[in-house]
Amino acid sequence: MTGPADGEDPEDREDREDREDAGDRKDRLALDRDRIVGELRRAGCVFAEEEADLLLAEAADASALDRMLAERVAGTPLEHVLGWTEFAGLRILVDRGVFVPRQRTRLLARQAAALARPGEIVVDLCCGSGAVGAAVAAAVPGIELHAADLEPAAVRNARRNLEPLGAHVHEGDLYAALPDAVRGRVRVLAVNAPYVPTGEIGRMPPEARDHEPLLALDGGGDGLDVHRRVAAEAADWLAGGGSVVIETSRAQAPVSALLFERAGLAARIVTDDDLDATVVVATHPG
Ligand SMILES: C[S@@+](CC[C@H](N)C(=O)[O-])C[C@H]1O[C@@H](n2cnc3c(N)ncnc32)[C@H](O)[C@@H]1O
Repeated sequence: MTGPADGEDPEDREDREDREDAGDRKDRLALDRDRIVGELRRAGCVFAEEEADLLLAEAADASALDRMLAERVAGTPLEHVLGWTEFAGLRILVDRGVFVPRQRTRLLARQAAALARPGEIVVDLCCGSGAVGAAVAAAVPGIELHAADLEPAAVRNARRNLEPLGAHVHEGDLYAALPDAVRGRVRVLAVNAPYVPTGEIGRMPPEARDHEPLLALDGGGDGLDVHRRVAAEAADWLAGGGSVVIETSRAQAPVSALLFERAGLAARIVTDDDLDATVVVATHPG
């Protein structure tokens, strides 16, 4: 039996070529990474290295990578470019035109989870992508989860995140979206409603102003218009001893807490300096 003309075994040649291909790809990626980091830096991205790695990992091919990079450089939020974000250890799908979950909202999810038990009803009101509900469901398996939002795009997005968990996602204006069967039976009402005062929207970063719906941000004159409406009906929807957990800012918290006190609930303010987060926890006396 004679060997290959060039003396190299075919299997060895295949291995060598695979190694060379992998080496070429690594070199190309390193070149791409440097270029991407540079472009992201020039566009003002603070975490250019991390973002470059995420874009490289996510892009299916070179043209997808170029398209994603161009969008990011033009100011589209990274989460909308990738189509997902990490929240409380979960990968949450985030559609274009839907509010991007903020890391500070982990305090809301944590406080809500601490108050819920398996079998109890938890509502993620003003759910956006459904990140809060998903985090509570992951922390407390076996809850009956409902989520609701007024914005159809958010409802579609939340369905993609929450229906695989067995949750029910409803479309409509605050409580009007919820099935009557949960009235008076909600153990935890987790709410991240819009709370930016109208006059401050113009000072928000363009990523939020230009890519997130006004409905997700604008809380009216003092930022608490939606909080007022949530407080007004909370006692009707909560079970005895059930709680509302609602995100707010440190400055707005005392007024937000007062709204719930006036609605007959016992309110306290919880803050987390590391997350720069504040929530009001308001409990139905039962
Ligand atoms: C600040 S975003 C929070 C989204 C999500 N909970 C999160 O933390 O990522 C506020 C959400 O409230 C929704 N929203 C605003 N007004 C509403 C209303 N009257 N009824 C129901 N949802 C409303 C918006 O569409 C938006 O998705």
